[in-house]
Amino acid sequence: MASYSGAECLFLPLLLSIFFSASFGYLDGTTEPEVTFSQGNLRGKIMTTTHGRKVSAFLGIPYAQPPVGNKRFANPVPAGGWKGIRNATADGNMCPQLSNIDYVSFVGDEDCLNLNVYTPQISNRKNSSLLPVMAYVFGGRFLTGSTKSSVYSPAYLLNQDVVLVTFNYRLGVLGFLSTGDEVASGNWGLKDQVLALEWVQRNIRHFHGDPDRVTLFGHSSGSACVHLLTLSKLTIVFYEKEEWFDDFLENFDYLLPIIMYWSYLPDSGAAWVKAAKSYYFNNIETMNRSELLTNLTLLIGDATFTYPMYSSLLYQHAVAVNPQYFYAFRYRGTWSNTYLYSNPLTDYGVAHADDLGYIFPHVDYNIILALNKTPNEKDLQMREVMVQLWTSFANHGKPSTLFFRGNTTWEPYSKKDNYLQIGDRSEITLEVKHSFSTERMQFWANLERSTAEAETIGFIP
Ligand SMILES: *[C@@H]1O[C@H](CO)[C@@H](O)[C@H](O)[C@H]1NC(C)=O
Ligand SMILES: *[C@@H]1O[C@H](CO)[C@@H](O)[C@H](O)[C@H]1NC(C)=O
Ligand SMILES: *[C@@H]1O[C@H](CO)[C@@H](O)[C@H](O)[C@H]1NC(C)=O
Ligand SMILES: *[C@@H]1O[C@H](CO)[C@@H](O)[C@H](O)[C@H]1NC(C)=O
Ligand SMILES: *[C@@H]1O[C@H](CO)[C@@H](O)[C@H](O)[C@H]1NC(C)=O
Repeated sequence: MASYSGAECLFLPLLLSIFFSASFGYLDGTTEPEVTFSQGNLRGKIMTTTHGRKVSAFLGIPYAQPPVGNKRFANPVPAGGWKGIRNATADGNMCPQLSNIDYVSFVGDEDCLNLNVYTPQISNRKNSSLLPVMAYVFGGRFLTGSTKSSVYSPAYLLNQDVVLVTFNYRLGVLGFLSTGDEVASGNWGLKDQVLALEWVQRNIRHFHGDPDRVTLFGHSSGSACVHLLTLSKLTIVFYEKEEWFDDFLENFDYLLPIIMYWSYLPDSGAAWVKAAKSYYFNNIETMNRSELLTNLTLLIGDATFTYPMYSSLLYQHAVAVNPQYFYAFRYRGTWSNTYLYSNPLTDYGVAHADDLGYIFPHVDYNIILALNKTPNEKDLQMREVMVQLWTSFANHGKPSTLFFRGNTTWEPYSKKDNYLQIGDRSEITLEVKHSFSTERMQFWANLERSTAEAETIGFIP
């Protein structure tokens, strides 16, 4: 969970080249914004950003027909229209999932393929300049999550001139079950995302969004998140009960492949366990508990998150036309996820998804409640930095912020192995660095290469 290597992500610019002719819509500058487009009329509501800017929110807009009946386990079909004015003032249904409060009860509804659009209030109808669009894909291990407007809200991002779109997509079995053939080809959740982006292409002009400047952004993704959750649970266990720790060490060779999803490798992960053990635990008998925990954290973070992310960056870099911007988030703010499970006096660095809290408010409301802390001056400054970086990227394809103060430039990733380190413990810093954990990344690249010859299945389960 907590690692100094922090949470790194990639910006993935999505430059869709589909053009649709559409008439320009407009927003009425009153308290009840309305918009008219091919599906019908929408009445939205006003929301206020942290800088006091009034913006228009259109919630729960259907982009696909309900995936029920013979549309269950099938490709999504574009939604039809409606008559009269549709209320777009409340979130649509979230997709079926287990409650994130008790992890047992069921919430959501299969009729869930809807999206939210947030656009700055523009009262001057003559001002038709279209704004960059930011389309957000929420994380949640492909099992949970929704576009809930109090969480993935415009409160921070719409301080800048962007249009924000968030969408629900099918999760869990309904989103990803596959029989491996044409009976159920699977990946319905991803196909929903594609359809939502097509909706954006067709309709976002009516919300003053520019369909030629759509940036797709998100956090976390599938398997990496599963592993990190596993890690955070292990961490809790370790702190509560010493004997679990001894059990873990005794059964290390058996447990490691399970935690890491290596059991599927041809040798049930034995070769990987051996290599990882000698690299991260070069003398497991003499390591004390704190060293063991430190390196176990490093191992799990590297194997399930950092290396897969880094290697996909290298793949992208080799083939992609668009630049990649690479960062390491190392600011430990008041609401860091690390505070929730750990001794507050020890500095555990930052945790997965800590960066998200500066782009959206209340991402993990439970943490905020549990910690009962208010953000400090630096947290607010970090919010400005993050919002400026993300929205400027959406705007001109180059992330920038006033906090660079003219002496830092964030260059696209290159042979220099450069990345931007955002923050340093509790300080707001922006520093260009080189050589991203080179030795450890090399270890994984070599391991992957050496076992590829044995025709293992891919690295990421
Ligand atoms: C739309 O919302 C308004 C205000 O909440 C309510 O008065 C009206 O009945 C709703 N209309 C429909 C069609 O649900
Ligand atoms: C039009 O809107 C853009 C974005 O909100 C703003 O920067 C610009 O100043 C506006 N132009 C006019 C003429 O109002
Ligand atoms: C912890 O892991 C690192 C590899 O990242 C290794 O260099 C170091 O020797 C390990 N520590 C111990 C005590 O094994
Ligand atoms: C664990 O070992 C390291 C390295 O030898 C040492 O710096 C640290 O103080 C030890 N921690 C504990 C709790 O004994
Ligand atoms: C950046 O430049 C400003 C003004 O020249 C200076 O005050 C500041 O210390 C510089 N910051 C860094 C990190 O070098």
